[in-house]
Amino acid sequence: MKARIIDGKVVASKVHDEVAVGVAEFKASHGTVPGLTVVLIGDDPASHSYVKGKERACEKVGIATATIRRDATITQEELVEIVEGLNKDPKVNGILVQLPLPKHLDEDAVIHAIDPMKDVDGLHPENAGLLMLGQPRFAPATPLGVQRMLVEQKVDMNGARVVIVGRSKLVGMPLTALLLQKGIGANSTVTVCHTGTKDIGAETRRADVLIAATGFPGPITPDMVKPGAVVIDVGVSRVEDPTRKRGYRLTGDVEFDGVAEVASAITPVPGGVGPMTISMLLVNVLQAAKLAAAN
Ligand SMILES: NC(=O)c1ccc[n+]([C@@H]2O[C@H](COP(=O)([O-])OP(=O)(O)OC[C@H]3O[C@@H](n4cnc5c(N)ncnc54)[C@H](OP(=O)(O)O)[C@@H]3O)[C@@H](O)[C@H]2O)c1
Repeated sequence: MKARIIDGKVVASKVHDEVAVGVAEFKASHGTVPGLTVVLIGDDPASHSYVKGKERACEKVGIATATIRRDATITQEELVEIVEGLNKDPKVNGILVQLPLPKHLDEDAVIHAIDPMKDVDGLHPENAGLLMLGQPRFAPATPLGVQRMLVEQKVDMNGARVVIVGRSKLVGMPLTALLLQKGIGANSTVTVCHTGTKDIGAETRRADVLIAATGFPGPITPDMVKPGAVVIDVGVSRVEDPTRKRGYRLTGDVEFDGVAEVASAITPVPGGVGPMTISMLLVNVLQAAKLAAAN
């Protein structure tokens, strides 16, 4: 293998330490700690596992955390009422509604109900708009994590040709906005690919930094990667694997072994972008608490 493996856990741990210091300072000056409340609907095992990870991370850095759990039968009105209650609670600095929601619920309407000053997922239109305008308040944690990882790896993003595969509101779109801005870890030339892109390989082969976020296992093959490129794999898919106790393993969008022979650096799945997502959520919660204290 030629590529250097980018260990997300190492970078995430550095961010956790920074947040822990920030939380301690916040407590010393305000007498309270930042608070995150997660709203978890239904019994999707992946969502439950993500929420556990978030609770544990908050506890480690001293952020107060609570999870409101409700059955998948909850109505839209009941869910919006919960969000509105959290909007009014001064102890709650960050509100995170774990996605995806059960099909009968209107995800956009729920996100729009969150107070934008508490929208630590960065999905409210006000925060998405501010990010697009180059005045970010809260950007979604995964794109922030990808950017922070690139900065920590000292990847020169200034003028770099970046290709992002995936244009979701959670990953591809906000990451595009972040990397296009002038500033550290940005000022890149960004191309975004999606299912309508005619020849994805022709685009990805020009990338100095290739970021894959499709959610399908293995669409990025070695022939699609420029020799020496940095490859960031955001995708997480469950693939059946009878050799594993759980019966499945997690895999990314990138054909890891082959691409690692071509790239100069690559993130693994798991252990790459995933840990960064949680750590940047903590950064957003601390930021929300600081903004609330300043008002
Ligand atoms: N590690 C983490 O912390 C973390 C956090 C968030 C998400 N994720 C993972 O990242 C992946 C993407 O998440 P998401 O929420 O962005 O998913 P999403 O909303 O389903 O979006 C997927 C995007 O990929 C595009 N796409 C799908 N297949 C493609 C293909 N073969 N070629 C080109 N483009 C393709 C889609 O194009 P169209 O728009 O044309 O349909 C869409 O824009 C998932 O595996 C998710 O689990 C990981």
